[in-house]
Amino acid sequence: MSNTQYDYDVLVIGAGPGGYVAAIRAAQLGLKTACAESRETLGGTCLNVGCIPSKAMLHASEYFDAAANGAMAEMGIEVTPKLNLEKMHDQRRDAVKGLTGGIEFLFKKNKVDWKKGRATFQDAHTVKVGEETVTAKNVIIATGSSVTPLPNVEIDNEKGVVVDSTGALELSKVPEKMVVIGGGVIGLEMGSVWRRLGAQVTVVEYLDKLLPGMDDDVRKEAGKIFKKQGMELKLSTKVTSVETKGDKATLTLEPAAGGEAETMEADCVLVSIGRRPNTDGLGLDNIGLELNKKGQVETDHDFRTKVDGVWAIGDVIPGPMLAHKAEDEGIACAENIAGQTGIVNHALIPSVVYTWPEIAGVGLTTEEAVEKMGDKAKVKVGKFPMMANSRAKTNHEPDGFVKIIAEAESDRVLGVWAIASVAGTMIAQAAQAMEFGTTSEDIAYTCHAHPTHSEAMKEAAMAVQGKPIHV
Ligand code: FAD
Ligand code: NAI
Repeated sequence: MSNTQYDYDVLVIGAGPGGYVAAIRAAQLGLKTACAESRETLGGTCLNVGCIPSKAMLHASEYFDAAANGAMAEMGIEVTPKLNLEKMHDQRRDAVKGLTGGIEFLFKKNKVDWKKGRATFQDAHTVKVGEETVTAKNVIIATGSSVTPLPNVEIDNEKGVVVDSTGALELSKVPEKMVVIGGGVIGLEMGSVWRRLGAQVTVVEYLDKLLPGMDDDVRKEAGKIFKKQGMELKLSTKVTSVETKGDKATLTLEPAAGGEAETMEADCVLVSIGRRPNTDGLGLDNIGLELNKKGQVETDHDFRTKVDGVWAIGDVIPGPMLAHKAEDEGIACAENIAGQTGIVNHALIPSVVYTWPEIAGVGLTTEEAVEKMGDKAKVKVGKFPMMANSRAKTNHEPDGFVKIIAEAESDRVLGVWAIASVAGTMIAQAAQAMEFGTTSEDIAYTCHAHPTHSEAMKEAAMAVQGKPIHV
């Protein structure tokens, strides 16, 4: 199958969840494959400085919080926790080391060659990786994304006063006062970590609610929950400047709509206002590939770019910047290169915020459903509170709900949203059912084990039918 004209059938640029998965799948399909990665370790943002280390800190800090803030005492376990932050960081580093090393093992096992260095296109089939020139019949751009900077705000992760998500993972002490700029996923996850460990956290969000893109009910409820947990929320507010002096920062804030400015002091400022695609130095000019207005590489449904033989996947292309989306695109892209039919259903990419409780959704929000159907009456909604779910109530986890949005006439489920301690796990059921075109009645008549949080999904489906049992 290998094409002797080129060194490789496939060269993947970037070894994040998009790139490394594409490389392994391509090799499994018999294609001679290499992957260029400039980092010291494989796994990209996700394994090195994203999903995995943030979850390691979230998981550990959740235990600390439960011990420190009375949740354990409520169950008759009285302890006074003592924080060993260095050890907490060590277990995070161990998780990252184990998993990134695992990808290196998988590359060897599947005979994927790792080309260490930065990749730059010379032409569509020739890529310079460090000092080496590699040719390939197909090149997949999987270069991912990096932090969007805030104009006039300098990030210095080493110093630890104004940091991005990478710096926020590594803080060597718990800040007394932390200000998070951006009430999105990173701000709430990393803000939760440091609040649980003792920081006083203020979230400054430009919009009037947290978590843009999520269902409005979820956004409102999330605001209430984070406030109750002790986060200060400054909504409809923008940061106009951050000045640092020694180990302190002074922020200037203004109402988003304009108005009187105020200042605020902090020991740590986290800038988390979004991420942008990585294309600098990739040499896209050399292959005549233009970016869209958001700086993304556009592809067709099969992940082909406009340049023959060049494909793209993951955070560098449009769509949600999520690891599982990148992985699925990696598999589909490799299969398309091998002449198979690789498909990703972009309408059903679940998203999860790993706070306490977790926040998850798949499909349309209520607002999107009403807009799509053109009339509120054409949409039915069923909602079930976790307070009425026996397992959540027994576990002292009363916050949140499950919400199911269905098309009124056909009963087809259009979206599912959940705030619950295990919402991230629960949402998989909804995604799978929706992939098979489920109706709310299908979910309502599926037997769910008792006592589980998932029963709330069944009850929310029964609520769409207007007949929940436990409320
Ligand atoms: P990346 O993972 O960004 O990988 C791209 C790789 O390409 C990088 O390693 C980079 O070094 C390399 N590269 C770039 N340019 C070149 C070049 N020219 N030559 C060689 N190599 C190059 N998503 C989730 O789904 N769940 C989560 O819980 C989650 N948590 C996150 C937490 C944080 C703090 C952050 C920052 C992100 C999180 N994400 C999460 C998002 C997730 O990390 C990304 O969506 C995912 O990593 C994108 O995968 P990718 O393969 O497209 O790119
Ligand atoms: P985000 O897009 O989730 O949130 C950014 C927030 O900042 C938005 O609420 C936005 O309104 C606000 N904002 C923008 N400019 C601002 C300003 N000047 N002042 C105040 N607020 C401002 O981006 P975030 O949190 O940086 O995360 C980046 C990406 O990483 C996300 O798109 C997400 O997909 C991914 N990610 C996913 C995780 C998960 O799946 N659990 C965890 C962490 C990140």
